[in-house]
Amino acid sequence: MAVLLKGEPVAAALRKKIRAEVSALARPPRLAILMAGESAASRRYVERKCDAAAEVGIGTELCALPAGAGRREILQLLNHWNEDDSIDGVLVQAPLPDRSLEDEVFGAVDPAKDVDGFHPHNVGLLALGQKDGLIPCTPKGILYLLEAYGIPIAGRRIVIIGRSRIVGLPLALLLQSRGLDGTVTLCHSRTAHLREIAREADLLISAVGSPNLVRAGWIREGATVVDVGQNFFSDPSSVGGRRLLGDVDFSVVAPHCGAITPVPGGVGPMTVASLLENVLLARQRGAAKSLQPSADA
Ligand code: GUN
Repeated sequence: MAVLLKGEPVAAALRKKIRAEVSALARPPRLAILMAGESAASRRYVERKCDAAAEVGIGTELCALPAGAGRREILQLLNHWNEDDSIDGVLVQAPLPDRSLEDEVFGAVDPAKDVDGFHPHNVGLLALGQKDGLIPCTPKGILYLLEAYGIPIAGRRIVIIGRSRIVGLPLALLLQSRGLDGTVTLCHSRTAHLREIAREADLLISAVGSPNLVRAGWIREGATVVDVGQNFFSDPSSVGGRRLLGDVDFSVVAPHCGAITPVPGGVGPMTVASLLENVLLARQRGAAKSLQPSADA
């Protein structure tokens, strides 16, 4: 039977380490979160982030703007948080109601406070393998999860399905970087022969948002499968009236895997713990910068 790659115990250990480091700081870190529009899924994600931050001693400030909030209003708020020395991390929950604004909005966050790692500066540092940027939370969390369970990356054939800014693209950059040395194929909605490519993978990662996309015939026997999908369905028979499904048809795929993440309880807790780590990093780097003498001093 496949090893179940449970995220919660790994995330709990990471949160414990973060809590200890936070408690040693003279001022606790502070994260500002912007949520625009009324998406129930975004609200749930943001609540989880705020609860987890509180648990490790990180303060949060949440601004929920109406769906009709314009470009100027959003940029003004980000500018205010960029200038505010009591704010260490800034996060804009995606997707925005007007997705055409996302490039400009993510690019307006101070790269030093960009705890999502979506700013072009941080994406560029990741692409170049430079260590002083902030790495997007889900890719970082997946890496920690694989490390914790001893899943090898170097030299392995890794197939990622989905090329989003949040997961697929940065994850491809991370896993192929020097030192990790995976051999990555990044697939997307126009990839031909997706099933055949997936079957080549030692490590298959699906980050599409399409329930049961990955089925039994897509898996090489013994491969590791990481399911990033979070697909919610209304289901009156489930707790809370909702059911969460991943991208992977778990019951038919799991018997063919060496290891597989569950949904929920696999990647999700790792994303949140990695966000907390990025806030702590931003706080520590900001504090370190303010201790350095300025060039003209
Ligand atoms: N929406 C879904 N995942 C994420 C994430 O990791 N960060 C942000 N900002 N929005 C998201």
